[in-house]
Amino acid sequence: MNNPTSLLPYNTFGLAHSCSEILHIDTIEALQAQCLRLHRNKEPMLVLGGGSNIVLTDDFSGTVVLIETHGIEIKAGEDAYYLTVAAGENWHDLVLFCLAQGIPGLENMALIPGTVGAAPIQNIGAYGVEFCQACDWVEYLDLDSGKLVRLSAEQCQFGYRDSVFKQALKNKAVITQVGLKLVTPWRPQLSYGPLKGFSAEVVTPQEVFDTVCQIRRSKLPDPHKLGNAGSFFKNPVVTVLEYQRLAQNFPDTVGYALEDGRVKLAAGWLIERAGLKGYEYQGAAVHNEQALVLVNLGSATGQVICDLARHIITEVNRKFGVVLEPEPRLIGLHGEVELANA
Ligand code: FAD
Ligand code: EPU
Repeated sequence: MNNPTSLLPYNTFGLAHSCSEILHIDTIEALQAQCLRLHRNKEPMLVLGGGSNIVLTDDFSGTVVLIETHGIEIKAGEDAYYLTVAAGENWHDLVLFCLAQGIPGLENMALIPGTVGAAPIQNIGAYGVEFCQACDWVEYLDLDSGKLVRLSAEQCQFGYRDSVFKQALKNKAVITQVGLKLVTPWRPQLSYGPLKGFSAEVVTPQEVFDTVCQIRRSKLPDPHKLGNAGSFFKNPVVTVLEYQRLAQNFPDTVGYALEDGRVKLAAGWLIERAGLKGYEYQGAAVHNEQALVLVNLGSATGQVICDLARHIITEVNRKFGVVLEPEPRLIGLHGEVELANA
């Protein structure tokens, strides 16, 4: 018989840990009632969408709240389409839905797994576009006051793989709905390498969507076949001086200039050049097609994934003097943990 509290179906790394109880939440009312009950009783709670940005390092001794709310509303304005989307909607299904409705703007972020409610948390992004560019507002349940609060995009303090939900509001907010503003007329975002070949005058949203899907399928492993959580590390952001120091020793260093004058390094390049692409360790591996992705070859545990991640950090630091930071959230016995303690 299947263990009713197994989290195996609810994390894309395919890790076989469990929790005390799983609640399937499909209305905002139930979300409010259950999350506030757990919070007020000081019972450990883990909110999950698609489980595509977590690594379970142990059984979780608390309740997992699965956000499965649904609903998409569209309003056409003069300068944009305004969408209100429930947190439990699947992100890629939303991208497809918008495309089918003739509402472009999300196609660069096709095929990102997970839910709409998780998108603001790390400000998901891909192929030249980040969630914050389409965000109008985010609504969340404030666990301390019990109230629903709406933040403007600016108040969300979005950054690269960052937002207020990972900072001041960490563990205090459950995202309930997201407001998107998809401006008209559509302005294609073609800054990412393989999209540069298109002409902005004639390219269609469908062509951008198809190209993004094709690139992603060629590089990123399908979690249904090979467990993973996407990029395991953030691309490190360094000063120009640091970049120049690296480029002097390694002239082919891959880096992108940011607007604030700093440089974002390609962590996949650092890992590959540290000789770790394809490296296998006790049932886990550095993905052959994309060194930034760690995969579960079938028998890895969360501990093994963490050991592999620490080994990569050590080796990259030794070779380049750059410290990588994990992107997914690590979940242990009592909740989120840092990699050093996992
Ligand atoms: P989960 O993994 O369920 O949760 C992630 C964190 O958010 C947890 O800490 C959880 O507690 C919290 N959380 C989830 N929902 C809520 C809520 N409603 N309210 C409050 N807290 C909540 N990311 C990118 O940015 N770009 C990519 O290109 C990309 N590609 C990926 C490719 C693959 C193959 C995979 C497996 C992952 C990829 N990711 C990417 C990472 C991941 O898809 C995103 O971070 C996604 O937003 C996670 O959504 P989720 O619903 O699965 O979140
Ligand atoms: N590279 C290598 N070897 C590798 C992988 C990458 O040398 O094995 C170098 C290449 O030079 C390549 C560069 O790194 O040109 C960048 O690689 P890629 O375009 O694949 O993107 P990334 O920086 O590895 C980031 C995001 C992805 C997102 C893609 C596309 C982060 C941490 N990751 O990856 O997001 O899909 O760009 O925009 O920012 C995720 O967050 O989970 C995720 C998959």
